[in-house]
Amino acid sequence: MSELVATHMCKESNVGYHGNLFGGTMLAWLDEAGVAFAAQVCGSPRMVTKCISEVTFKKPVRPGQIIKIYGDVVKIGTSSITIKLSARRHSVINGSQRSVCDVQMIFVRIDGDGEPVPIQNVKAKWADRREKKEEEARKDMEY
Ligand SMILES: CC(C)(COP(=O)(O)OP(=O)(O)OC[C@H]1O[C@@H](n2cnc3c(N)ncnc32)[C@H](O)[C@@H]1OP(=O)(O)O)[C@@H](O)C(=O)NCCC(=O)NCCS
Repeated sequence: MSELVATHMCKESNVGYHGNLFGGTMLAWLDEAGVAFAAQVCGSPRMVTKCISEVTFKKPVRPGQIIKIYGDVVKIGTSSITIKLSARRHSVINGSQRSVCDVQMIFVRIDGDGEPVPIQNVKAKWADRREKKEEEARKDMEY
């Protein structure tokens, strides 16, 4: 179950000559959202980006449009966590969303010397957190 990690509004300063959001800006938003999400799930601020999957920019983003970035955990390894991020263009008029790009990122937990260290007790905590979110979503549906 994916959760909202970040929200951005595209500004005039974020777009290029053709009026579309710069790809590099979108990647920076995804990286920032990903590391923040990874740090929360792993309970450590010392997470670095190791890999980013291939990225396809499916739809343009223009000034004034809102981008919501959703995250989910794909895999928890020894020192690494694989996260799926989905950037969606969000309409404030009717709440509908269109997928702009999806990416998988791997973050590694490091120590003070920059060496990988195990992320501990995360699987159980993540399962707990997911269960709570699913319970909240079920309650919301009931109202
Ligand atoms: C992150 C870093 C410390 C990892 O060092 P490393 O020597 O690759 O460490 P390891 O080989 O032990 O791998 C660490 C984890 O990354 C995973 N990993 C390494 N290379 C990978 C790759 N190409 N693809 C996917 N996962 C990879 C390993 O599987 C391992 O995961 P696990 O512990 O969950 O099994 C090191 O690569 C680094 O400092 N990179 C720069 C990070 C950075 O500055 N990022 C910002 C971008 S500018």
